[in-house]
Amino acid sequence: MKRTHHCGQLRSGDVGKSVSLIGWVDSIRDHGGILFIDLRDREGITQVKANPNGSDAEFNAAILGLKPESVVEFHGEVEAREEGTVNANLPTGSVEVQARLALAHNISETPPFPIDDEKGDKVNEDLRLRYRYLDLRRSKMNKVLRLRHATTRSIRDYMDENGFVDVETPMLFKSTPEGAREYLVPSRINPGQFYALPQSPQQFKQMLMVAGLERYYQIARCFRDEDLRADRQMEFTQLDIELSFIDREDMYELIEGLMKKVWRDALDIDIPTPFPRMSFQEAMNRYGVDKPDTRFGLEIEDFSEAFASSGFKVFQATVQGGGVVKAFKAPTLADVTQGEMKNLEEVAKSLGAKGLAFIKVQGGEWKSPIVKFFSDEEKAALSERLSLENGDIVFFAASKWEQACSILGRIRLECAELLKKRGRLDIPADQFNFLWVVDFPLMSFDEEQGRFVATHHPFTAPVAEDLAILDSDPKAVRGQHYDLVLNGVELGGGSIRIHQRAVQQKVFEDVLKIPSDVVASRFGYMLEAFKYGAPPHGGIAFGLDRLVMILAGLQSIRDVIAFPKTQKGQCLMTSSPSPVTDKQLKDLYIETTLDET
Ligand code: AMO
Ligand code: AMP
Repeated sequence: MKRTHHCGQLRSGDVGKSVSLIGWVDSIRDHGGILFIDLRDREGITQVKANPNGSDAEFNAAILGLKPESVVEFHGEVEAREEGTVNANLPTGSVEVQARLALAHNISETPPFPIDDEKGDKVNEDLRLRYRYLDLRRSKMNKVLRLRHATTRSIRDYMDENGFVDVETPMLFKSTPEGAREYLVPSRINPGQFYALPQSPQQFKQMLMVAGLERYYQIARCFRDEDLRADRQMEFTQLDIELSFIDREDMYELIEGLMKKVWRDALDIDIPTPFPRMSFQEAMNRYGVDKPDTRFGLEIEDFSEAFASSGFKVFQATVQGGGVVKAFKAPTLADVTQGEMKNLEEVAKSLGAKGLAFIKVQGGEWKSPIVKFFSDEEKAALSERLSLENGDIVFFAASKWEQACSILGRIRLECAELLKKRGRLDIPADQFNFLWVVDFPLMSFDEEQGRFVATHHPFTAPVAEDLAILDSDPKAVRGQHYDLVLNGVELGGGSIRIHQRAVQQKVFEDVLKIPSDVVASRFGYMLEAFKYGAPPHGGIAFGLDRLVMILAGLQSIRDVIAFPKTQKGQCLMTSSPSPVTDKQLKDLYIETTLDET
């Protein structure tokens, strides 16, 4: 079972050679008793010609028994294809192999869906996931896995060239319920006690800095029990990095070099560096989100001042109450349909909007339920600052600053989709807008919990100048936190860390209001470690799945993960999660309450 060539290899120069190929039957065509078999392996397709009418009965039977997706080995001679039968779309299209020996290794049943790039894409995703091994057999999927491999190889080369050491950190970690919900793992030999699967290697990588490693990286599996979406899985992969003795500028330079190399290796594209930077405040004000897609405009403007004493009471009262009035223009979108408009309103309401006021400019007139309340100055401010033209539509949000920004941020993205659908917004597939978002607030106030929570995580260092106001005005303290955003996707985030015990303790206890006994039981070891010469350090982590998704030009991280989970957290191929026996539970000192609820 030794092949001489793979199925994408043979060319005109090989004519006359005796070869053997092995692979899957892609298709079989019968041309007057002669069978033309497209044989496929991961490298390509070669046409094999077989005549099942000769004297070799065994050969004839093997050929006639073949079905699509069967695994078969052919031995034969390479021939030039006759003129008119050359297939210019296939690299091997000028030759074919005249089979003299055929060994069927496995005859396939009819697969539940076609193993075909285009047809396979239209198949229901659950069916694809149930038969993932067939889905991955499609050349498109196969290519994605190989792109992922090329990406991680490029990353590893870069990290190695820059003196980073790959260290594995534990999967069985301790529960520290500060971030997302965790997966718990019962300990059989410590009855009633639990490990947690790590949300990220954050604490271990900081300990590696205290350990004097200076430069660490890992391609690490992380677990978060969150609601799953197109760009979120419960189990995902991070490129995780930590370094000692660096500041934010060093970090930006290191990561820009990494992205440059990955894009060159994976796509042969030279991306310009350094990447632009934008403060969180500016990102929210202009794009309504902390991960702006800067490939198109539709930027948001503030009209709070203009409407501070407006005749439209909603706007006036909002501004008087300390809120803001914001608006943006979607050019040419006054032809939005009623259904589309209803959907936009629902999106706005799902984010807490009371309504979605708008103005359509049509036939030289402003059509809107609220324009009758506007003064001439208010109208002038709008038309001047938004340069309104016939066919445009303006959307408004009046609310607290962050909410108004977020509402219009989402409506902006929805409008971009509507414009794309109409062919009025064209974003080239090879446009990559990297952006550092910086100067996040260190803390945000969580209304639900009635206390401050860390914007990134509690280990992030405050900006040095702001340390003095940590007690008096925690809201105003900026964190040394940075996010790398690409085309509206948060690719990665990190920070310079706190490395002084006193500051870390203050953040836990005085700012985040975590009771001191809880701090001691959860993070005591860390505070202790900081007593013994903790170096200044910082790091970052990237979503590897998201990175590969963008490199592959895909919309869902499920398409770049070999065996992903569904929206409901299930693996349809192996049927997990699944019940376990009472004995298993008993051994773990666990009882479920499922029957009682
Ligand atoms: P953070 O929580 O921002 O930071 O995560 C870093 C990056 O991981 C990716 N990511 C995810 N990808 C897929 N599915 C998910 N559920 C998911 N959650 C996060 C994102 C994100 O930007 N320890 C810190 C990093 C640091 O400070 O060094 C951390 O985990 O692309
Ligand atoms: P109303 O005066 O409540 O009938 O609202 C008039 C218009 O303003 C409607 O189109 C509402 O959807 C919209 N609207 C109401 N409240 C807000 C708000 N806070 N922000 C933006 N638009 C609003």
